[in-house]
Amino acid sequence: MTFDIFETFKELSAAFGPSGRENGIAEVLTELAANTIHDIGDWDHHTDALNNLIYHRAGTGKKILLAAHMDSIGIVVTHIDENGFARFAQVGGLMIGDLIDRRVRFQNGTRGVISFEEKTPYAKLSFDNLFLDIGAANREQAEKYIQVGDFAVFDGEPFQQGDIICGPYLDNRIGCLTLIGVMAELAKADYDADLYVAFTAQEEVGLRGAQTAAFAVQPDYAIAVDVTDTGDMPERKYPMAVKLGAGPAIKIMDRSVICDTDVKKALYAAAEKCSIPVQREIMEFGGTDTGVIQRTAGGVRAGAVSIPTRYIHSPSEMASISDIENAIKLIAYAVSKGLEG
Ligand code: CO
Ligand code: ZN
Repeated sequence: MTFDIFETFKELSAAFGPSGRENGIAEVLTELAANTIHDIGDWDHHTDALNNLIYHRAGTGKKILLAAHMDSIGIVVTHIDENGFARFAQVGGLMIGDLIDRRVRFQNGTRGVISFEEKTPYAKLSFDNLFLDIGAANREQAEKYIQVGDFAVFDGEPFQQGDIICGPYLDNRIGCLTLIGVMAELAKADYDADLYVAFTAQEEVGLRGAQTAAFAVQPDYAIAVDVTDTGDMPERKYPMAVKLGAGPAIKIMDRSVICDTDVKKALYAAAEKCSIPVQREIMEFGGTDTGVIQRTAGGVRAGAVSIPTRYIHSPSEMASISDIENAIKLIAYAVSKGLEG
């Protein structure tokens, strides 16, 4: 690997990038690509109207699109009361239990704590009963720091412990990191794919960026990289075959997509050839960019490689470094063979 996974993840997670406000994370990704990909001179890149950051390296082979969303979940301020407390709406799917007493940060550095109206029984709390406290004495003081319409994200320091990394926005900064790794690996390979790598915007609010990115590219094949749930915690409600640390997951299906069988076969063949452990993923809840990419224009043969992740959309998402490394190797090899099984 040409870069350290945890150190790079720390850099990416320090960037600000909730859905619709991806400029900060796009900047860090551009810098990272410039510093880690040896043949970056062969790539060009641009940002489209939705904030998708799209890289292209021209080739004579099949047109392949790799995609990872760079936006994270967050909150947006909807109201500030006369005592300086703010109300907010969710940007992407949040769970109340993940929010109470959590710190958030705004793009301008302002920090706050989420709390709840104590008179409402804990089990009956809805988003309407939550508020954000930035320590302001009144509305006037609060508005010096934040305005209605300002976005904020979880504030939390990532850590590494053995093979595990933990922090907010592994979803989907580790997908972005994986694709930077794939580009770096491919710099050492001889391949002819006409390759596009899209860091997409607004996935968390409905797979929006991938829709325009895929339409602009109209690839023959596509692979999206994102996190997926695991079934390996105590007393999970629904069984799931995916575990942490047992290899990247090759998606078969989720709520948004049934993956293309040729792409799936090419990924399995690559796994076998490179002796990489892989898992079979069916995620019963949630979707991915693959869903909209597949249905772009006249249709795209699309699949997905997922990084098994616990506690998705909480401030403490957890994944395995070896799964990320293996995902990089797997995708790079499969692409170098033109996704031919
Ligand atoms: Co997500
Ligand atoms: Zn995601």
